[in-house]
Amino acid sequence: AQTLPTTFTHPGTGIVFNTWGASTAQTQGGFRLGMALPSNALTTDANEFIGYLECSSTKNGANSGWCGVSLRGAMTNSLLITAWPADGEVYTALQFATGYAMPKNYGGDAKITQIASSVNATHFTLVFRCQNCLSWDQDGVTGSISTSAQGTMFGWVQAFPSPGNPTCPTQITLSQHDNGMGQWYAAFDSNIANPSYTAWAAKATKTVT
Ligand code: HEM
Repeated sequence: AQTLPTTFTHPGTGIVFNTWGASTAQTQGGFRLGMALPSNALTTDANEFIGYLECSSTKNGANSGWCGVSLRGAMTNSLLITAWPADGEVYTALQFATGYAMPKNYGGDAKITQIASSVNATHFTLVFRCQNCLSWDQDGVTGSISTSAQGTMFGWVQAFPSPGNPTCPTQITLSQHDNGMGQWYAAFDSNIANPSYTAWAAKATKTVT
């Protein structure tokens, strides 16, 4: 079954996303992932997107927990985006796992830059540009998303504890996620591809490392 998108306009930036969510029954505090794509991405495959993450810090308060997204659904052999709050900032790591164990740092040329973030007592959010993220190559293990297919499989997880070494993204340590996980076949609609994409992407000037 397909999970149909909900269109969401991020209040701080005006960026329009297709979003897919997990309920508070599936994960404490709920979870939401959004994607915005270049204007021609529904006919010509894009290799970047603007993402939106709305993740929970429900159990241990502000600046706790982490959430993760698999861009092909499964944890393994996919570019993984891991995000967590620390010191009022939202940090990210691009990772890759060939098995169900602590992922390695991704070695390809994908890059995240931030447009907006927020951290409060129960949730953290991030609006980010992810360049070279829709195809990947980790030591010859390759994969990609075809945006012209107008939908894709995504996987998500959330966890209660913070990563170890939280202010050093290339050296974080994680335990297995413990606040729910799931996969959607996420359908795209026309709101995902916007003529303003280039202008929005140009606002991604902040790196948190
Ligand atoms: C699923 C372990 C980190 C994304 C799983 C499963 C295990 C596991 C054992 C299968 C659970 C089941 O089927 O009941 C771990 C360990 C981690 C870790 C030990 C770190 C120490 C991550 C990270 C991400 C992630 C960082 C994403 C950024 C997923 C997803 C699934 C999953 C999307 C569900 C889809 C699937 O079964 O492939 N993980 N994981 N994991 N994991 Fe992880």
